[in-house]
Amino acid sequence: MSDIHTIGVVGAGQMGRGIAQVAALSGFKVYLFDLNKEILENSQNFIENQFSKGVSKEKYTQELVDSAKDNLNYIIDLKNMSHCDLVVEAATEKKEIKFQIFKDLDKALKQDAILASNTSSISITEIAAQTSRPERVCGMHFMNPVPVMKLVEGIKGLETDEEVFSQVKTVSEKMGKTFVSSNDVPGFIVNRVLMPMINEAVYAVYEGIASIEDIDAAMKLGTNQPMGPLTLADFIGLDTCLYIMEVLYDGLGDTKYRPCPLLKKYVASGRLGKKTKKGFYQY
Ligand code: CAA
Repeated sequence: MSDIHTIGVVGAGQMGRGIAQVAALSGFKVYLFDLNKEILENSQNFIENQFSKGVSKEKYTQELVDSAKDNLNYIIDLKNMSHCDLVVEAATEKKEIKFQIFKDLDKALKQDAILASNTSSISITEIAAQTSRPERVCGMHFMNPVPVMKLVEGIKGLETDEEVFSQVKTVSEKMGKTFVSSNDVPGFIVNRVLMPMINEAVYAVYEGIASIEDIDAAMKLGTNQPMGPLTLADFIGLDTCLYIMEVLYDGLGDTKYRPCPLLKKYVASGRLGKKTKKGFYQY
């Protein structure tokens, strides 16, 4: 049995709202925080819409949805999550922003609270070093879309306590996810393997090996992936893919992680994928 009953989520974007939704459905009290009131309101609408759709598709009962709605609190002041047992940070993937959030959380949260980050690429050891409790900090990396994807990648920082890590595993399992454990290395497990594959698919376009559609069809039908790597890159965001490749390249220093010049060009031009309606495909 986990000692964690109340979960704070920092950042009400795509990942944060998904984490909040799943946690509330799993019976946790949830405090979803964002500085931006409009983003918070949009998240509430999105989550409630997901609940209604879930009920009409008979995925959830009305009773479950009612209790999940009761479990959810939308807040614009970090102090309102000071009593949380666990906080999952899912803010913008920028070091300076995450470091400041962890400093603020360390001050605002009770001393025995666990602080987790949903970062896909920033070192957990470095994030933990921003706090006075590095042993109570770890990575809790959800995949997008959170309600659908079954994985949580747990990341142990240099100082992460085994008991803390095991509590985070229990919470993840209570949320219906399979938990895998990774050491704190650039890209952890998923992005260490996924991003070089996506980058290689971009090289295949760059070198004129085949059309975008044929590269995706080859990988989708030939290796049983739900979507081809270039569609997936558009879905993740080409800026995010480039950023993670740069983390791998800088952190591991091996030329095999060199970001494809075409990926850099697309990002420089503002083609970021689905979110800008243009990436490898038009949306
Ligand atoms: N939020 C909630 N639910 C969603 C959703 C979303 N954003 N998108 C789709 N779904 C649900 C749908 O409601 C549907 O549910 P039901 O079966 O209950 O009706 C189900 O997912 C399937 O959706 P669709 O039929 O519309 O579409 P699909 O079969 O093509 O599935 C997909 C969509 C689940 C996204 C699938 O294409 C897929 O698995 N793609 C790969 C996703 C992936 O690899 N994600 C990881 C990215 S890497 C990452 O996140 C880590 C990182 O650090 C970059």
